[in-house]
Amino acid sequence: MTAAPGVLEEGQVRAMFDRIAGFYDLMNSVMTAGLHHKWRSRAVDLAAVGPGSRVLDVATGTGDLAIELARRGCEVVGSDFSPEMLERARGKAPELRWEQANALALPYGDDEFDAATVGFGARNFSDLERGLGEMARVVRPGGRVVVLEITTPTRPPLSTFYRVWFDHVVPVIGRLTGEEQAYSYLPSSVKRFPGPADLAATMERAGMERLRWILTAGGIIALHVGEVRG
Ligand SMILES: C[S@@+](CC[C@H](N)C(=O)[O-])C[C@H]1O[C@@H](n2cnc3c(N)ncnc32)[C@H](O)[C@@H]1O
Repeated sequence: MTAAPGVLEEGQVRAMFDRIAGFYDLMNSVMTAGLHHKWRSRAVDLAAVGPGSRVLDVATGTGDLAIELARRGCEVVGSDFSPEMLERARGKAPELRWEQANALALPYGDDEFDAATVGFGARNFSDLERGLGEMARVVRPGGRVVVLEITTPTRPPLSTFYRVWFDHVVPVIGRLTGEEQAYSYLPSSVKRFPGPADLAATMERAGMERLRWILTAGGIIALHVGEVRG
């Protein structure tokens, strides 16, 4: 059962991503006009990593953020709890390490990575602070945690466009693809996700410091970065 709008049980989230895995990349490109690649590239810039860095990409899905990290010379692990999404990632980059894992209980030791990233995944965590805490735990002190997420713009004209897009266009896309649940969950999960200042505060509580964030795409996309406390 759905607890509240934009909240699904873990099993339902996993099943939903398993179902939409086959057309996830196409939908991403259509819904963002291809801009998602640029946002992922900025997320990697913020992680301040390079050749030889060990990086974990949590909720990696079909793997684009992990693949961008690998392109910059990092040693990457892409982890996700949806086998079907991981299968797509593996198909794109079989040479990378893809592992099935729940972000709320990561199967990695403390301080194992130089950085951790999550792209459009944190919104789905049933316990956000715990998921962010897990990312902080597996990253060494001083290493960075980067969160790339959709956020709700507060000022017109983007706030108006956003309401029309999310409340009217995205649900129609859902009906056309036969995935009404997934594409009504998307806008409601964005609405209930904390705004930029609250997300930064949650990251601080989860073990990070020196929090800052960048808003881009007219205030629709937020990139947060923090350093793991020693
Ligand atoms: C919207 S997709 C984002 C995928 C990818 N990071 C990207 O940037 O396109 C969200 C992903 O988060 C994964 N996910 C959600 N909750 C998770 C959890 N608790 N543990 C592991 N993966 C999770 C889903 O399976 C899905 O692949």
